[in-house]
Amino acid sequence: MRKPDIFDEIIQCLKTSEKTGADTSMSEATLHDFYSAPVRKAAPRPQAQVALAQNIQGVPPAYAPDLPEWESLRTECAACMKCRLGPTRTNMVFADGNPHAELMFIGEGPGADEDATGVPFVGRAGELLSRMIAAMTFDRKTETCIANIVKCRPPGNRNPADDEAAACMPYLKRQIAMVNPKVIVLLGAVPLLYLFNLKGIMRLRGRWLDYDGIPVMPTYHPAFLLRNPPAKKDAWADLQAVMAVFGRKPAPRR
Ligand code: SF4
Ligand code: URA
Repeated sequence: MRKPDIFDEIIQCLKTSEKTGADTSMSEATLHDFYSAPVRKAAPRPQAQVALAQNIQGVPPAYAPDLPEWESLRTECAACMKCRLGPTRTNMVFADGNPHAELMFIGEGPGADEDATGVPFVGRAGELLSRMIAAMTFDRKTETCIANIVKCRPPGNRNPADDEAAACMPYLKRQIAMVNPKVIVLLGAVPLLYLFNLKGIMRLRGRWLDYDGIPVMPTYHPAFLLRNPPAKKDAWADLQAVMAVFGRKPAPRR
Protein backbone atom coordinates (compact mmCIF):
# COMPACT_ATOMS: atom_id res chain seq x y z
CA MET A 1 0.00 0.00 0.00
CA ARG A 2 1.24 3.46 -0.79
CA LYS A 3 1.94 5.85 2.02
CA PRO A 4 -1.04 8.15 2.75
CA ASP A 5 -0.34 11.66 1.57
CA ILE A 6 -1.76 15.03 2.49
CA PHE A 7 -4.52 14.43 0.04
CA ASP A 8 -5.65 11.21 1.75
CA GLU A 9 -5.53 13.08 4.98
CA ILE A 10 -7.88 15.74 3.65
CA ILE A 11 -10.32 13.11 2.37
CA GLN A 12 -10.21 11.34 5.73
CA CYS A 13 -10.91 14.56 7.58
CA LEU A 14 -13.77 15.40 5.25
CA LYS A 15 -15.27 11.95 5.85
CA THR A 16 -14.88 12.20 9.59
CA SER A 17 -16.45 15.63 9.80
CA GLU A 18 -19.38 14.42 7.69
CA LYS A 19 -19.92 11.35 9.87
CA THR A 20 -19.66 13.17 13.15
CA GLY A 21 -21.37 16.33 12.00
CA ALA A 22 -18.38 18.15 13.44
CA ASP A 23 -18.28 21.89 13.05
CA THR A 24 -16.85 22.57 9.63
CA SER A 25 -16.78 26.33 9.76
CA MET A 26 -13.52 27.85 8.76
CA SER A 27 -12.10 28.82 12.12
CA GLU A 28 -8.32 28.75 12.34
CA ALA A 29 -8.58 25.85 14.77
CA THR A 30 -10.82 23.77 12.53
CA LEU A 31 -8.63 24.47 9.56
CA HIS A 32 -5.61 23.47 11.52
CA ASP A 33 -7.18 20.15 12.50
CA PHE A 34 -8.47 19.64 9.03
CA TYR A 35 -5.26 20.32 7.32
CA SER A 36 -2.58 19.93 10.02
CA ALA A 37 -0.78 22.83 8.48
CA PRO A 38 -0.54 26.55 8.98
CA VAL A 39 -3.25 28.61 7.34
CA ARG A 40 -1.92 30.79 4.61
CA LYS A 41 -3.43 34.22 5.06
CA ALA A 42 -3.46 36.39 1.99
CA ALA A 43 -2.53 40.00 2.31
CA PRO A 44 -5.85 41.55 1.31
CA ARG A 45 -5.76 43.79 -1.70
CA PRO A 46 -7.15 47.27 -1.09
CA GLN A 47 -10.48 46.32 -2.63
CA ALA A 48 -10.70 43.29 -0.38
CA GLN A 49 -11.85 45.49 2.49
CA VAL A 50 -14.74 46.59 0.34
CA ALA A 51 -15.54 43.01 -0.60
CA LEU A 52 -15.56 42.06 3.07
CA ALA A 53 -18.07 44.81 3.77
CA GLN A 54 -20.29 43.27 1.13
CA ASN A 55 -20.51 39.98 2.90
CA ILE A 56 -22.80 40.89 5.71
CA GLN A 57 -25.40 38.17 5.36
CA GLY A 58 -28.84 39.15 4.29
CA VAL A 59 -28.06 42.84 4.38
CA PRO A 60 -27.51 44.94 1.28
CA PRO A 61 -23.79 45.68 1.03
CA ALA A 62 -22.15 48.88 2.05
CA TYR A 63 -21.65 50.90 -1.08
CA ALA A 64 -18.25 50.60 -2.63
CA PRO A 65 -17.34 53.79 -4.43
CA ASP A 66 -14.43 52.15 -6.23
CA LEU A 67 -16.66 49.40 -7.67
CA PRO A 68 -19.54 51.38 -9.15
CA GLU A 69 -20.19 48.98 -12.05
CA TRP A 70 -20.36 45.98 -9.75
CA GLU A 71 -22.73 47.76 -7.41
CA SER A 72 -24.97 49.06 -10.16
CA LEU A 73 -25.19 45.54 -11.61
CA ARG A 74 -26.10 44.27 -8.14
CA THR A 75 -28.84 46.87 -7.90
CA GLU A 76 -30.10 45.94 -11.35
CA CYS A 77 -30.23 42.24 -10.46
CA ALA A 78 -31.97 42.93 -7.15
CA ALA A 79 -34.89 44.45 -9.08
CA CYS A 80 -34.87 41.86 -11.88
CA MET A 81 -38.04 39.98 -12.80
CA LYS A 82 -36.86 38.72 -16.18
CA CYS A 83 -37.73 35.11 -15.45
CA ARG A 84 -40.20 33.16 -13.33
CA LEU A 85 -37.66 32.75 -10.51
CA GLY A 86 -37.86 36.45 -9.64
CA PRO A 87 -41.31 36.54 -8.03
CA THR A 88 -40.64 33.58 -5.72
CA ARG A 89 -37.23 34.60 -4.38
CA THR A 90 -36.60 35.92 -0.89
CA ASN A 91 -33.21 37.40 -1.84
CA MET A 92 -31.42 37.76 -5.12
CA VAL A 93 -28.03 36.09 -4.67
CA PHE A 94 -25.46 38.19 -6.49
CA ALA A 95 -21.99 36.95 -5.52
CA ASP A 96 -19.65 36.40 -2.62
CA GLY A 97 -16.02 37.28 -2.12
CA ASN A 98 -13.90 39.83 -3.91
CA PRO A 99 -14.92 41.19 -7.32
CA HIS A 100 -11.21 41.69 -8.03
CA ALA A 101 -10.34 38.06 -7.25
CA GLU A 102 -8.12 36.06 -9.57
CA LEU A 103 -10.07 32.86 -8.86
CA MET A 104 -13.77 32.66 -9.67
CA PHE A 105 -16.20 29.83 -8.88
CA ILE A 106 -19.49 29.41 -10.68
CA GLY A 107 -22.26 27.23 -9.26
CA GLU A 108 -25.84 26.48 -10.24
CA GLY A 109 -28.16 28.69 -8.30
CA PRO A 110 -29.24 29.54 -4.78
CA GLY A 111 -30.66 26.90 -2.45
CA ALA A 112 -32.78 27.58 0.61
CA ASP A 113 -29.93 28.94 2.76
CA GLU A 114 -28.69 31.18 -0.01
CA ASP A 115 -32.21 32.45 -0.73
CA ALA A 116 -32.60 33.24 2.97
CA THR A 117 -29.27 35.06 3.30
CA GLY A 118 -28.58 36.50 -0.16
CA VAL A 119 -25.11 34.91 -0.11
CA PRO A 120 -24.05 32.03 -2.40
CA PHE A 121 -22.77 28.74 -1.01
CA VAL A 122 -23.59 29.14 2.67
CA GLY A 123 -25.40 25.81 3.19
CA ARG A 124 -23.86 22.35 3.57
CA ALA A 125 -22.44 22.35 0.05
CA GLY A 126 -21.12 25.84 0.73
CA GLU A 127 -19.31 24.65 3.82
CA LEU A 128 -17.61 21.97 1.78
CA LEU A 129 -16.74 24.54 -0.89
CA SER A 130 -15.20 26.74 1.81
CA ARG A 131 -13.05 23.84 2.97
CA MET A 132 -12.02 23.05 -0.58
CA ILE A 133 -11.01 26.70 -1.11
CA ALA A 134 -9.04 26.71 2.13
CA ALA A 135 -7.31 23.47 1.15
CA MET A 136 -6.32 25.27 -2.06
CA THR A 137 -4.62 27.86 0.21
CA PHE A 138 -7.04 30.58 -0.91
CA ASP A 139 -9.02 32.88 1.34
CA ARG A 140 -12.68 32.64 0.31
CA LYS A 141 -13.63 36.23 1.11
CA THR A 142 -10.62 38.08 -0.23
CA GLU A 143 -9.15 35.82 -2.89
CA THR A 144 -12.16 34.31 -4.62
CA CYS A 145 -15.36 35.50 -6.21
CA ILE A 146 -18.31 33.09 -6.18
CA ALA A 147 -21.38 33.39 -8.39
CA ASN A 148 -24.11 31.20 -9.88
CA ILE A 149 -25.80 30.57 -13.22
CA VAL A 150 -29.10 31.93 -11.83
CA LYS A 151 -29.38 34.54 -9.11
CA CYS A 152 -32.76 33.51 -7.76
CA ARG A 153 -33.69 30.22 -6.16
CA PRO A 154 -35.37 27.60 -8.34
CA PRO A 155 -38.31 26.29 -6.26
CA GLY A 156 -37.63 22.98 -4.54
CA ASN A 157 -33.93 23.23 -5.49
CA ARG A 158 -34.55 21.95 -8.98
CA ASN A 159 -31.99 22.80 -11.66
CA PRO A 160 -32.56 26.06 -13.49
CA ALA A 161 -34.60 25.69 -16.67
CA ASP A 162 -33.06 26.65 -20.02
CA ASP A 163 -35.06 29.87 -20.32
CA GLU A 164 -34.21 30.90 -16.74
CA ALA A 165 -30.49 30.33 -17.31
CA ALA A 166 -30.70 32.24 -20.59
CA ALA A 167 -32.51 35.16 -18.93
CA CYS A 168 -29.87 35.39 -16.19
CA MET A 169 -26.78 34.77 -18.32
CA PRO A 170 -26.14 38.40 -19.36
CA TYR A 171 -25.66 39.30 -15.68
CA LEU A 172 -23.14 36.50 -15.14
CA LYS A 173 -21.30 37.45 -18.32
CA ARG A 174 -20.99 41.01 -17.10
CA GLN A 175 -19.76 39.73 -13.74
CA ILE A 176 -17.12 37.56 -15.39
CA ALA A 177 -16.01 40.49 -17.54
CA MET A 178 -15.69 42.76 -14.50
CA VAL A 179 -13.89 40.21 -12.33
CA ASN A 180 -11.71 39.13 -15.26
CA PRO A 181 -10.29 36.26 -13.21
CA LYS A 182 -7.13 34.35 -14.02
CA VAL A 183 -9.03 31.05 -13.67
CA ILE A 184 -12.70 30.05 -13.45
CA VAL A 185 -13.80 26.84 -11.72
CA LEU A 186 -17.18 25.45 -12.79
CA LEU A 187 -19.03 23.55 -10.10
CA GLY A 188 -20.95 20.71 -11.67
CA ALA A 189 -23.02 20.06 -14.77
CA VAL A 190 -25.20 23.18 -14.74
CA PRO A 191 -22.50 25.84 -15.36
CA LEU A 192 -20.84 23.48 -17.87
CA LEU A 193 -24.11 23.26 -19.77
CA TYR A 194 -25.00 26.93 -19.77
CA LEU A 195 -21.56 28.50 -20.22
CA PHE A 196 -20.25 25.98 -22.78
CA ASN A 197 -23.32 24.11 -23.99
CA LEU A 198 -21.52 20.91 -22.97
CA LYS A 199 -22.95 17.83 -21.30
CA GLY A 200 -20.96 15.21 -19.40
CA ILE A 201 -19.32 16.56 -16.26
CA MET A 202 -18.05 13.05 -15.45
CA ARG A 203 -16.08 12.97 -18.68
CA LEU A 204 -15.14 16.64 -18.91
CA ARG A 205 -14.11 17.40 -15.34
CA GLY A 206 -10.41 17.98 -14.99
CA ARG A 207 -10.03 19.17 -18.58
CA TRP A 208 -9.23 22.81 -19.25
CA LEU A 209 -11.72 24.85 -21.26
CA ASP A 210 -11.42 28.41 -22.50
CA TYR A 211 -13.92 31.18 -21.88
CA ASP A 212 -12.95 34.35 -23.76
CA GLY A 213 -9.29 33.60 -23.09
CA ILE A 214 -9.85 32.67 -19.44
CA PRO A 215 -8.84 29.11 -18.51
CA VAL A 216 -11.80 27.24 -17.06
CA MET A 217 -11.65 24.06 -14.97
CA PRO A 218 -14.87 22.07 -14.66
CA THR A 219 -15.12 19.96 -11.53
CA TYR A 220 -17.79 18.29 -9.43
CA HIS A 221 -20.34 20.31 -7.50
CA PRO A 222 -19.76 20.12 -3.73
CA ALA A 223 -23.34 18.86 -3.23
CA PHE A 224 -22.43 15.91 -5.46
CA LEU A 225 -19.26 15.36 -3.43
CA LEU A 226 -21.32 15.22 -0.24
CA ARG A 227 -23.39 12.41 -1.76
CA ASN A 228 -20.39 10.70 -3.39
CA PRO A 229 -17.37 11.13 -1.13
CA PRO A 230 -15.07 8.93 -3.26
CA ALA A 231 -15.35 11.56 -6.03
CA LYS A 232 -13.54 14.04 -3.78
CA LYS A 233 -10.27 12.56 -4.90
CA ASP A 234 -10.97 13.60 -8.50
CA ALA A 235 -12.21 17.03 -7.44
CA TRP A 236 -9.05 17.56 -5.44
CA ALA A 237 -6.95 16.62 -8.45
CA ASP A 238 -8.87 19.24 -10.49
CA LEU A 239 -8.31 21.87 -7.82
CA GLN A 240 -4.63 21.06 -7.64
CA ALA A 241 -4.37 21.74 -11.38
CA VAL A 242 -5.92 25.14 -10.67
CA MET A 243 -3.50 25.76 -7.82
CA ALA A 244 -0.61 25.03 -10.14
CA VAL A 245 -1.65 27.97 -12.34
CA PHE A 246 -1.16 30.19 -9.29
CA GLY A 247 2.07 28.45 -8.32
CA ARG A 248 0.48 27.24 -5.09
CA LYS A 249 0.98 23.89 -3.46
CA PRO A 250 -0.91 22.30 -0.57
CA ALA A 251 0.71 23.49 2.64
CA PRO A 252 3.33 20.96 3.75
CA ARG A 253 2.78 18.92 6.87
CA ARG A 254 4.65 20.17 9.86
FE1 SF4 B 1 -33.63 37.94 -13.07
FE2 SF4 B 1 -31.80 36.01 -12.95
FE3 SF4 B 1 -33.55 36.31 -10.96
FE4 SF4 B 1 -34.39 35.37 -13.30
S1 SF4 B 1 -32.93 34.36 -11.91
S2 SF4 B 1 -35.38 36.96 -12.07
S3 SF4 B 1 -33.10 36.53 -14.71
S4 SF4 B 1 -31.95 37.78 -11.57
N1 URA C 1 -25.41 25.38 -4.81
C1 URA C 1 -25.10 26.22 -5.82
O1 URA C 1 -24.88 25.80 -6.94
N2 URA C 1 -25.02 27.52 -5.55
C2 URA C 1 -25.23 28.03 -4.34
O2 URA C 1 -25.12 29.23 -4.18
C3 URA C 1 -25.55 27.14 -3.29
C4 URA C 1 -25.64 25.82 -3.55
